Amino acid sequence: MTDHVPTSGAEPQAVVSPLTKAAIFLVALVNSDASSQDAATTLCADVSGLVRAVGFRDLNGRLTCVTGIAAGAWDRLTGLPRPAGLHPFRELRAGGRNAVSTPADLLFHIRATRMDLCFELAGQIAERLAGAATIVDEVHGFSYFDERDLLGFVDGTENPAGAAAARAAIVGAEDPAYAGGSYVIVQKYVHDLAAWNALPVEEQEKIIGRTKLADIELDDAVKPSSAHNALTTITVDGEEVKIVRDNMPFGHVGAGEYGTYFIGYARSPATTEQMLENMFVGSPPGNYDRILDFSTAVTGALFFVPSQSLLDSFGDLGALAAPASARAGDEVMGDGSLHIGSLQKGASQ
Ligand code: HEM
Repeated sequence: MTDHVPTSGAEPQAVVSPLTKAAIFLVALVNSDASSQDAATTLCADVSGLVRAVGFRDLNGRLTCVTGIAAGAWDRLTGLPRPAGLHPFRELRAGGRNAVSTPADLLFHIRATRMDLCFELAGQIAERLAGAATIVDEVHGFSYFDERDLLGFVDGTENPAGAAAARAAIVGAEDPAYAGGSYVIVQKYVHDLAAWNALPVEEQEKIIGRTKLADIELDDAVKPSSAHNALTTITVDGEEVKIVRDNMPFGHVGAGEYGTYFIGYARSPATTEQMLENMFVGSPPGNYDRILDFSTAVTGALFFVPSQSLLDSFGDLGALAAPASARAGDEVMGDGSLHIGSLQKGASQ
């Protein structure tokens, strides 16, 4: 993979940030009328201000929000050319396993060390979306003991950190107009915890590919080729290509709901899609991920996460009278900002 070449000024959103104790995942569908779409793009531009306002009340709370835009919404809301890898989430079906694709326009991935900060920001976003969009999925995630998922395994160990995380998750010179951006895939999984817990721990460890208590990777001599960490290891030209995950447990004990919200950021969605193919279809086909015998994906969506600078300039899109088709040819500047001046000129002609 080519080295990550940061393009001057294209500051990424808070994609690569330390794991937190709490998160809220909001997925919204924007109404099709023009004023709703304007409200949504204006909100996108204002999210960083809302994060500052709410986050300043406890700076130790490390409040962040990543805003993602799905393919259809990108076209309708921005009218800009599509980032190179942006397309609707590709559903997978094999042997009764199904990576479903569910309706989605906007994703807000809110993280903080305290749920109250996440909740306050989510409320501010919901207020701004009222009448313009419907929140179709809302998940409140929590950190469970030592970063474990509800299957009981430590989740996140092999995540890249620091510069390696940015290299894995942030678009570089391969798509200069959208450098500083990222692609994010989310899937909400619900587990059959009773069936999982009925499995001997040794069997569970072979499914995950790590020991349960100490979180040590199984030796290749005992690790099956269907182990989760074997199927999600992607190698291109002899080099491992990573993604940045921040999965969160969630659930409702009264309803018997125990889940994992999967979220994976990558500089190309192809990496995460290959992992999904290996998990659901199998590598080779049929050698699938046994996590899926105990877990069902109930949502699935792909979003582009524009750089912070590009997102912040979205507010200017709403003021433009030019139809999307006229704007589609316009370029995004290398600094991640929109060609607002020339767009406005075009709109007034
Ligand atoms: C039910 C949902 C899932 C659960 C409970 C789960 C859990 C885990 C656990 C426990 C690990 C081992 C520790 C670690 O390195 O993080 C792991 C690793 C990993 N998972 Fe998942 N995961 C889920 C879904 C997914 C999905 C959908 C993908 C990608 C499309 C994925 C990609 C990865 C990757 C890349 C690794 C690291 C592999 C390595 O380099 O060793 N996971 N996961």
